[in-house]
Amino acid sequence: MKIIKAKDYQDMSRKAANIISAQLILKPNSVLGLATGSTPIGTYKQLIEWYNKGDLDFSQVRTVNLDEYKGLEPDNPQSYYYFMYENFFKHINIDLKNVHIPNGLEEDPIKECNRYQDIISSLGGIDLQLLGLGNNGHIGFNEPGNCFNKIIHCVELAQSTIDANARFFNSIEEVPRYAYTMGIGSIMSAEKILLIVSGKGKAQILKKVIEGPILPSVPASILQLHKNVTIIADQEASSLLDQKLLD
Ligand code: GLP
Repeated sequence: MKIIKAKDYQDMSRKAANIISAQLILKPNSVLGLATGSTPIGTYKQLIEWYNKGDLDFSQVRTVNLDEYKGLEPDNPQSYYYFMYENFFKHINIDLKNVHIPNGLEEDPIKECNRYQDIISSLGGIDLQLLGLGNNGHIGFNEPGNCFNKIIHCVELAQSTIDANARFFNSIEEVPRYAYTMGIGSIMSAEKILLIVSGKGKAQILKKVIEGPILPSVPASILQLHKNVTIIADQEASSLLDQKLLD
């Protein structure tokens, strides 16, 4: 695990965008695994800025998103499709045919999970997977549990996740109870992983993820076993880490 300490949210976002840019320079048709949440918004903004300057080209990039709420239409402002389109895709020259997000409207989980797994396989796997960290240690929507779910699946969201994500909805009742998510196995099979973490509220869970035992009750702790994972954490998020890890 390579752990990089950033000064603040902006510094974390710039550093993450730099790593994604380097990936696209090395391989212009990379398969990027993308994430939603408030953490990656600054990274997407920075990439858009460099694209506008003419420094980045997304015309050959393929993307697969980690997750989507079950039951939300793509044009619902709370859907992850809408989030990705508004915060990233509509600002860059990506071909929307190359954009993949689980279909929240598919009622049949087996059908949707098979379809999405086939897409990832047909793309040849993920070159670089961007991740945020849930307050309870989730990645994608892989919630704390008794085992690591390997493949794409339909998950019942933890109450703590529903509470945390309610801020984006008019009321907590509107937060979907289920979501489709890449599994821990799908995430771990990415060539490279980039986890970004910001804010005091994530300091405790980040310490568990990096320094604690690998447990399904802390899903992101599995990243300790990945051969190429970079974590960029801002000062507040990294404040409880063993400082020796950051030198
Ligand atoms: C959601 C997403 C995760 C994301 C998490 C953290 O639950 N499914 O992929 O990492 O939120 O969100 P935030 O970055 O807003 O803290």
